Amino acid sequence: MSFDVFNPVRIHFGNNATLTAGKIAKKYSNLAMIITGKTSMQKSGTLDRLVKILKDAGVNSIIYDKITPNPTIDEIDEAAGIAREKGAGLIIGLGGGSPLDSAKAIAVAAKGNIPVWDYLKTPAATALPVITIVSTSGTGSEVNRYSVMTNPKTKEKPGFGYECMYPKEAIIDPEIMTSMPPYVTAATGFDVFVHVLEAFTGKMRNAFSSAYCMQAFYLLKDNLIKAYNEPNNPEARGNMALASALAGLAIDLSGVGIIHALEHPVSGNYPNVAHGAGLAALTVESMKYNLEACKRDFMLIAHHLGVKRAGKSDDEYAYSLIEKIQEMLRAINLNIRLKDLGVEKDRLPRMAKEAFATMGFAAKNNPKDVDEKAALRLLELSY
Ligand code: NZQ
Ligand code: MN
Repeated sequence: MSFDVFNPVRIHFGNNATLTAGKIAKKYSNLAMIITGKTSMQKSGTLDRLVKILKDAGVNSIIYDKITPNPTIDEIDEAAGIAREKGAGLIIGLGGGSPLDSAKAIAVAAKGNIPVWDYLKTPAATALPVITIVSTSGTGSEVNRYSVMTNPKTKEKPGFGYECMYPKEAIIDPEIMTSMPPYVTAATGFDVFVHVLEAFTGKMRNAFSSAYCMQAFYLLKDNLIKAYNEPNNPEARGNMALASALAGLAIDLSGVGIIHALEHPVSGNYPNVAHGAGLAALTVESMKYNLEACKRDFMLIAHHLGVKRAGKSDDEYAYSLIEKIQEMLRAINLNIRLKDLGVEKDRLPRMAKEAFATMGFAAKNNPKDVDEKAALRLLELSY
């Protein structure tokens, strides 16, 4: 057994933590570039509030608010060009995983003179400092080094992450998350579950990531469905925000698996598909595939999710986790198949290939070995 454990992100957690953004930003620069999406942060007033908080602390803002869900390299390169031209000294990601991932990629690209896509092959050693202010729970992007971007020409959607891409500080303010509509709560909340499922069972698991995962399972147990049904429940929102961050730390240490490897080609080819919805369509069949390799882990997770053992054999108890997840998916209206998401059947072979080309490291981390043929079979079974 050997592994490294490292995470340098300072986390500020709590309702109204956003109020501290000015003081935090000021440590890094007097000119911040805010990276956000097109609507949600404007509609909730959070963007205006942030600009004022920064201004009051003596930090001027440049706003780039054109990031789309499943962001493209064109948006990232455009924003990086503006950051470079205007001399931004700090990048603030405000929103869900899409603006946060973009903020990290922009921070890298703004430092160099090559398109962001080239950083998949050219390691980056420096980046502008990044602060994340997260509005979904979620990707865990607020606390990890990863950035996921789509090449709209080729439809490839890889993730990348260098040490310089860790956010310096993360502001996790559950108050901001209360505006998430139920579908976003469901999709992003299910993403948290898949992060801990895959980090907890993957080949790169270790005691530290497992500790994060166990606490996250425990938080997910009562709060995912509650946050879905009661958007303004502060306790449920706060607990989901915690679960998201714990899961983000876990995948930073131990990676994801086949469910993520298969999902990126789905939302890469179909950018209107929410990442978490793609995961929802793929999870049950992937869990069945992994069941034999993860029997004891599935039993432990079932226990953490409150599934009663009551006379079940080991096999039955491990399988009951899959039933529990199906029940959870039904409760949040995400009991869906790939065809419900508009995926075309004749694209499946291409998507199976892409899972290895763009997310090979995740496929390799899966508890049970998986090749292209098995990946295609999983896509077909999930269709
Ligand atoms: O369009 P905007 O205005 O940004 O609104 C968003 C978007 O339409 C909206 N939204 C976000 N917060 C809201 C809100 N609406 C109301 N109230 C709020 N508080 O929700 C929609 C989806 O937002 P998005 O940022 O796309 O969702 P999510 O947080 O799920 O991020 C998804 C992206 O992250 C990547 C995914 O692949 C995808 O590109 N991931 C990043 C990871 C990482 N960095 O470690 C790991 C993940 O596995 C994932 O791959
Ligand atoms: Mn994910």
